[in-house]
Amino acid sequence: MRVCIFGTGYVGLVTGTCLAEVGHDVVCVDVDAAKVEGLNNGIVPIYEPGLTPMVKANHAAGRLRFTTDAGAGIAHGDVLFIAVGTPPDEDGSADLQYVREVARTIGRHIERPVVVVDKSTVPVGTADKVRATIDAELTARGAGIDFEVVSNPEFLKEGAAVEDCMRPDRIVIGTSSASALETLRRLYAPFNRNHERIVAMDVRSAELTKYAANAMLATKISFMNEIANIAEQVGADVEMVRKGIGSDPRIGWHFIYPGAGYGGSCFPKDVQALARTAAQHGVQPRLLEAVEAVNAAQKGHLFELMQRHYDLGEDEGLRGKTIAVWGLAFKPNTDDMREASSRRLLQQLWDAGASVRAFDPEALAETRRIYGEREHLVLCGSAADAVEGADALAVVTEWKQFRSPDFAMLKEALADAVLFDGRNLYEPVEVEAAGIAYYGIGRGRSLRKEEA
Ligand code: UDX
Repeated sequence: MRVCIFGTGYVGLVTGTCLAEVGHDVVCVDVDAAKVEGLNNGIVPIYEPGLTPMVKANHAAGRLRFTTDAGAGIAHGDVLFIAVGTPPDEDGSADLQYVREVARTIGRHIERPVVVVDKSTVPVGTADKVRATIDAELTARGAGIDFEVVSNPEFLKEGAAVEDCMRPDRIVIGTSSASALETLRRLYAPFNRNHERIVAMDVRSAELTKYAANAMLATKISFMNEIANIAEQVGADVEMVRKGIGSDPRIGWHFIYPGAGYGGSCFPKDVQALARTAAQHGVQPRLLEAVEAVNAAQKGHLFELMQRHYDLGEDEGLRGKTIAVWGLAFKPNTDDMREASSRRLLQQLWDAGASVRAFDPEALAETRRIYGEREHLVLCGSAADAVEGADALAVVTEWKQFRSPDFAMLKEALADAVLFDGRNLYEPVEVEAAGIAYYGIGRGRSLRKEEA
């Protein structure tokens, strides 16, 4: 089938590439000429496992093209995807200006019936707005052309985006039009083998499903972080608690890892946006507000543990210290640093007068882009280099390569022999046996032992 995708960010680029991979004929449109030129030359602007070779192969096969020419894209596609960004505006609502702009462009250019698909995460009611915008343009042109607007939210995870897209656990399609549903069934047929993955519903339910999914996952994380905080105060090991509850299938093993807080382009933004939607419709989002508040506090927790270790009553505890930071991306297998916990930690360390030696396997360029050359920040070429000459180590992102360090080497390198593990990667006993003081999230020395 002939597909046009607006937006070559994470969602648009991965969706377009995977649709081409299964044989569809895809044109991706983006306003960023440099990005389009790069993509046409096999330069993929994001780090995502498996994506670059797939883009190159499909581009070479002629099934995947990139252009800034929206008119040409619309002329090409029978199905037009809107996959542009919906950044939060000041009050946390999703900013729909890019979605509206694409809708206007579609209204101006379509010459035959099309199915328009909202792929971006957009508030409930957006499909209706997109429909009205296209309608208004058609009316202005005096053109009467049939079109449908379908909500088809994306559930891919960064770092596993290609895999998630090629093997989706569900394909949510929101539309009341039988023919539009049929069109999307044909489009997704290659991804829908063996068992039925399509969940068809009305447009508004599909729009809310996406927010509900992300809000539920964010809630699980904040819940576990709160349990970790309680564990610290009562002297329990949260990792034992996690194992103790995860085996209950009603709770499950996923997304119950306490840590340095959730980041990324989805959870923080979507929890906020859903809370806004709730408030606008007269529902007080008590739980969502708490989920967000817990996360905001959690992002500062590693620093609090450091203060506790160093302060011993004085304010100057961290001044002049050099802290090695392993992991800057908001999670492993990505170079994305949007809302990353590392950013809060770096700022807190600088504010406290400390210096940072940081390493991340993929996000160093992004770190340089964000902070430029600045005092008190040294970007290092390896994990070992980062700890060289440092006083303490903080682990913020759980990259695989950080999982089994040589603790004897760390003990040698770290002047103060102390490790703050923001992702609970290590066993406290093992680290302490190497002569390193270990603080985890809800375990190790983070626990306040009952005063005798
Ligand atoms: C998320 C959803 O998982 C995906 O379905 C949706 O389409 C987009 O948002 P993503 O933002 O790529 O995907 O990352 P994810 O793997 O979900 O992790 C989000 C954050 O939560 C990370 O900062 C991660 O470190 C944190 N996290 C995750 C925890 O702190 N604990 C956990 O148990 C799981």
